[in-house]
Amino acid sequence: MKRTAILGTGHYVPPRVVTNQELEKLMDTTDEWIVQRTGIRERRFVDPGVGPAELAENAARAAVEDAALRIQDIDFIILATLSPQHNFPGTSCFLQEKLGHPGIGALDIRTQCTGFLYALSIADQFIKTGMYQRILVVGAEVHSTGIDLSTRGRDVAVLFGDGAGAFVLGASDDPNRGILSTHLHADGRFARDLWLEAPGSVFQPRMTVEMVTEGKCYPQMNGKKVFTSAVKKFPEVMREALVSNKKSKDDVDLYILHQANLRIVQAAADLMEIPQEKFFNNIERYGNTTAASIPIAFNEAKQAGRIKNGDLVMLAAFGSGYTWASALLRM
Ligand code: UT7
Repeated sequence: MKRTAILGTGHYVPPRVVTNQELEKLMDTTDEWIVQRTGIRERRFVDPGVGPAELAENAARAAVEDAALRIQDIDFIILATLSPQHNFPGTSCFLQEKLGHPGIGALDIRTQCTGFLYALSIADQFIKTGMYQRILVVGAEVHSTGIDLSTRGRDVAVLFGDGAGAFVLGASDDPNRGILSTHLHADGRFARDLWLEAPGSVFQPRMTVEMVTEGKCYPQMNGKKVFTSAVKKFPEVMREALVSNKKSKDDVDLYILHQANLRIVQAAADLMEIPQEKFFNNIERYGNTTAASIPIAFNEAKQAGRIKNGDLVMLAAFGSGYTWASALLRM
């Protein structure tokens, strides 16, 4: 059977930097609180008129170039986002239009923070079965247009930022390289611990002025519960990947965890007794970019020389749904 190799990676973040000090002017918060509780110092926000499809296009073109391919060599697109360009059709269709490659399949994934790993897993199955040869997998988010930038929404608003990351995956005959395994989980009993209630098709009409006034159009989060669940699930799902590949935690050269909160990553590392240096973090500069955080971090780690050919890399995520997932891959 074919293996799924990572042929190229890319990322793009909008140029506008928003520091914690800027947020201090909008809401009752402090740089000190944000840094201490989350590790975030700044994030990127898009300019008006820019959506996830625009960010995705830049990341995708960078990944295709990194793979030394042309857009026309791609035969399927999977895009993960919780902040779609429009309610429908999927953002992957808008991305496909921008890439100028009509006709190939385009699929949206809606599993929030684990979106990129779910997308990676689906692409892996398509490639291993021979259905597609080269798949573009993208995580892209624009949070800044959908968060409550007032004191009411401060617990959520200070966490999130905009950005996109992309992989080009391709079929390989090398049994020692590529995606070794993926592990996907969800528990819908906790769906309301981190969710965006409205607009919703369950409501008639889907959105009312009252919903806006009450703040139901903004994400709501039970921060403490999400935090403790993440700290528990990250080690669990990483161990699952290690056991399934008969690897030890020391075999892994680099750990890249979804950038939700620096304290979550540090707690997971401590629980597994893995040195912090083995984790690549960039939440300080981008905040939490949900589906985009893993591919952005991966590409930055690669550019910084932290991922080399032959390295074993662990990816893991936890978030809204709840969903949690991991992937172990050999570069
Ligand atoms: O992608 C995955 C999804 N998200 C996450 O993984 C986030 C998980 N949760 C967290 O990261 C943390 O729960 C937060 C960073 C959101 C909050 O940290 P915490 O240590 O759990 O703080 P808290 O919610 O217990 O709030 C402590 C205090 C409260 O004030 P009182 O009740 O003690 O007076 C909050 O009102 O901090 C207050 N607070 C803030 N203060 C300044 C909440 N947000 C802010 C803020 N600035 N932005």
